[in-house]
This record gives sequence, structure tokens and C-alpha cells, in this order.
Amino acid sequence: MTMIDQAGSVTLGNRAVKRMAYGAMQLAGPHVFGPPKDRDAAIAVLRTAVAEGVNHIDTSDFYGPHVVNQLIREALFPYPDDLVIVTKVGAVRGDDGSWNAAQEPDQLRAAVEDNLRNLGLSRIEVVNFRIHPGHHGRGDHSIARSFEAMVAMQAEGLIRHLGISNATAVQVAEARAIAPVVCVQNQYNLAHREDDALIDALAADGIAYVPFFPLGGFTPLQFSRLDAVAQQLDASPMQVALAWLLRRSPNILLIPGTSSVAHLRENLAAAALDLSAEAMATLDAIGSSSGRA
Ligand SMILES: NC(=O)c1ccc[n+]([C@@H]2O[C@H](COP(=O)([O-])OP(=O)(O)OC[C@H]3O[C@@H](n4cnc5c(N)ncnc54)[C@H](OP(=O)(O)O)[C@@H]3O)[C@@H](O)[C@H]2O)c1
Repeated sequence: MTMIDQAGSVTLGNRAVKRMAYGAMQLAGPHVFGPPKDRDAAIAVLRTAVAEGVNHIDTSDFYGPHVVNQLIREALFPYPDDLVIVTKVGAVRGDDGSWNAAQEPDQLRAAVEDNLRNLGLSRIEVVNFRIHPGHHGRGDHSIARSFEAMVAMQAEGLIRHLGISNATAVQVAEARAIAPVVCVQNQYNLAHREDDALIDALAADGIAYVPFFPLGGFTPLQFSRLDAVAQQLDASPMQVALAWLLRRSPNILLIPGTSSVAHLRENLAAAALDLSAEAMATLDAIGSSSGRA
């Protein structure tokens, strides 16, 4: 039993994973491109996460590219039996670090093969099909052709379970009509509440919701009301932001990202943080005042 067990577990596919997990994107170099500035520190973050009981790591072969998966393999292979590695496909990086759509069936297959090779796996537990955002963000265009290609790789045994990322409610429904979806990974945090209704609908159907940018992403969340609650609890604002997500809905799994062992430990400790109803109300108001309908 470790501290993070206090946040409980959720079923992802047919594996129980702890709700407090780790997102590995920050381990690559600046702009998620190239090698980390401190390779030993990156390895230490991954090993500390697992030593502290983390059994779910979120990654992609387009982080680096290849770099983050290779670090995960170097740090953790042979993997503990209970470790669930979740990856995502749907983009490729240009030589200049740009993020480019790779949503065609042959591109998705190449990406799954890259993940398998660099992680040293013969099957990946969960692969998210990441819908490439358009110039105007998310849209409702059909994802059937791409998702069917994912289903074909699942049938071949390369993927155990499928998830979807950057998806609207319409696209989640379209994917679910094609094949079972075990998780949805979208942007969501204290201040970015577009998915409120989707989270509740997925919870009712027993599907995990995995918010990316739980701390605000490249510009961590900054609100005086968040600071005030943190001060009252003798916690950090980042811990409170994570505790709010844990309390927001039982189907939420957390994958906060960091390149620092100190920040990792701080984030994991949020699993033990209890928020009163009053603190939740104060924090809920942040989302309302920053554009929530
Ligand atoms: N599906 C998608 O399209 C998509 C998009 C983005 C991300 N993701 C996934 O979501 C995961 C989480 O997202 P993210 O890492 O981009 O954003 P995040 O977890 O919201 O925030 C990470 C940022 O917060 C900083 N940070 C972390 N812990 C901190 C702490 N205790 N105190 C102060 N600063 C702290 C990190 O810097 P330090 O390194 O200095 O700690 C980093 O700059 C990623 O790792 C990735 O797996 C998915």
C-alpha cells in the first residue's frame, strides 16, 4: 500500500489502474522535441513514479519523437506485471519539431509499430486514436476510417484496448458505435471545463476519462482562488488542482506531467488531499468565471 492508493483505482479495459498516474510527455526536450536536458533526471522520474506505486504511464512515440518511449524502456524494462502503458497515435513530427496529422490507416499502423518497437512490447494495453486538432480546435468530422484501422490492429493482437483523444461527444459516440472505447483523453482542468457533460455521460457508462493538461499544460494554472484554497490546506496549488479533478468524477484518471522528481512527489501526494465541499465550491467557481457556459 502506497500513498497513491488513497485515491483508489479505476478499471481501464480489464486492468485495475490507480487513479493517480503519470504522463511522460515532459521528459522530452524543449517543445517535446529531442532528448531531455538531463537524461538521468528523466530516468529517475520514471523509476520514482513506479517505486511510489504508479501503475499507469501515458506516452506516445511522437514525444521526442521516439525519445520518451526509449526512456521508458531504458528505465523500466522488463516492466512490472501491473504496469499499464497507454500510448497514442495520429501525429508525426516534422524535422522542425512541428506536429503534423498522420490519421491515414497506413500512418496509424506505422505509429503503432514504432510504439511497439521503442517500448519493447508485442502488444500495447491501450492505444488512443488522437484526432488531430484543426485550426479551430476540435470538430465533429467523421473518424470512422481511422478508427476502423485501429480496430483492425486490435483484431490482429497489436492492441488490447482502444481509446480516443481530442474527441467531441459526437466523435466519441461514432467510435463507440464501431468498437468498445475504454477511455477518452481530452483537455480538461479547473479552468477548462468544456467536457463537463461528456465526463458525466462517460462515468455513467463506466468509461475512464483522462484529462490532459490537468495542471494547465505548458502554462500551469494560476488563480488567486486556487492559491487561497491551497494556503488553507497547507498544500500547493498544483496539488489542489489535482485533488479537485479526483473529486470531480470517479471515472477520472490523472496523468500529470513533470520532468522533476520533486514535482512528481508533490503531485502524487495530492492523492491523499481531502477537499471540503466549501473548497470544491470555491474551485468550481474558477471554471465558471473563465468562460464556462
Ligand atoms: N492527447 C493529447 O493530445 C495530449 C496533449 C498533451 C498532453 N497529453 C498527455 O497529458 C500528460 C499531462 O499533460 P502535460 O504534462 O502536458 O501538462 P500538465 O500535467 O498540465 O502540466 C505539466 C507542466 O506543469 C509543470 N508541473 C508539473 N508538476 C508541477 C508542480 N508540482 N509544480 C509546478 N509545476 C509543475 C511541468 O513542469 P516541470 O517539468 O518543471 O515539473 C510542466 O510544465 C502528458 O504527459 C501527456 O502524456 C496528451
